Amino acid sequence: MESLQTPYRAVIVGATGGLGAAFVQQLEQDPDCGQVVGLHRHSKPRVDLLDEVSIEHAASWLREQAPEWDLILDATGILTIDGHGPEKRLRDLDPAIMAHAFAINAIGPALLFKHLAPLLPRTRKGVLATLSARVGSIEDNHLGGWISYRASKAALNQIVRTTALELRFSHRQAVVLALQPGTCATRLSEPYRARAPEVLEPETATGALLKVLDRLDATDSGTFYDFEGQRLPF
Ligand SMILES: NC(=O)c1ccc[n+]([C@@H]2O[C@H](COP(=O)([O-])OP(=O)(O)OC[C@H]3O[C@@H](n4cnc5c(N)ncnc54)[C@H](OP(=O)(O)O)[C@@H]3O)[C@@H](O)[C@H]2O)c1
Repeated sequence: MESLQTPYRAVIVGATGGLGAAFVQQLEQDPDCGQVVGLHRHSKPRVDLLDEVSIEHAASWLREQAPEWDLILDATGILTIDGHGPEKRLRDLDPAIMAHAFAINAIGPALLFKHLAPLLPRTRKGVLATLSARVGSIEDNHLGGWISYRASKAALNQIVRTTALELRFSHRQAVVLALQPGTCATRLSEPYRARAPEVLEPETATGALLKVLDRLDATDSGTFYDFEGQRLPF
C-alpha cells in the first residue's frame, strides 16, 4: 500500500477466514509491507472474540513487537450460528442466536477496537477497518429478513462511526472504516450465494478493498465503503 509508511506493519484478525487469509496472502506479497501478522482463535497469541482477555493479551504482544501498527483489519464475522441460518421472518427469531450474532459481529469487533486502536500511528496515516456487510445498511434495506445479521452489522457500523469520532483528536490521520467486500466465495456465504448476481474470489475482493483503503484518508474516517470504492449509506 502506497499511502502508508514504508515498510508498514499490518495485523489481520480472523486470518483463518476466507477473506482474512486472502488479506494475509496479499499483504505478504506487497514489497512495501514489512510485517504482517495473522491472528485467529488458534494463533499464538490467540484471539477469541468471546474472550476479552485474549484480545488484551494479543494487543500487548503486538505492542511488544512494535509500538505502532499501520494497518489493522478485522476480518471476523458469523452468519450461520449453530446450524441456524439467517431468519426469513420475525417468527424465526431466537434470542440466544441473536445474542450470539451480536457477540461476534458487533461486541467482538468493538473489543478489538478498544484494545487495538491505541496501536494506530499518532502522526501518520493508519487504518482500522472491519468487514461489515451491505445488508447492515438500514437505508439500503428494501428486502427484510436476516434480522440478526443485519442488526448486528448495523450495530457494527455505529461502532465504527463512534470509534472514528473518538480517535479524531488522538490519532488525527486515522482512517476507521466499515467495509463491504461483495459476495465472496467463502465458508460464510456458501449456503446463501446461489442467487447472488456476482460472486467474487476472496483475492479479488481483498485486493480491491486494499486499493480502496490506500485511496481514503482521515476525511473519510467513520464511513462505509464497498470493494468498488463506492460509499454506502449507513
Ligand atoms: N463472504 C461474503 O460473501 C461476505 C459478504 C459480506 C460481508 N462479509 C463479511 O466478511 C467477514 C469475513 O467473512 P468470510 O466470508 O471470510 O467468512 P469466514 O470464511 O467464515 O471467516 C470468518 C472468520 O471469523 C472468525 N471467527 C468467528 N468466530 C470467532 C470468534 N469467536 N473469535 C475469533 N474469530 C472468530 C473465523 O474463525 P474460525 O476459523 O476460528 O472459525 C474466521 O476467521 C465477515 O464479517 C462477513 O460478515 C462476507
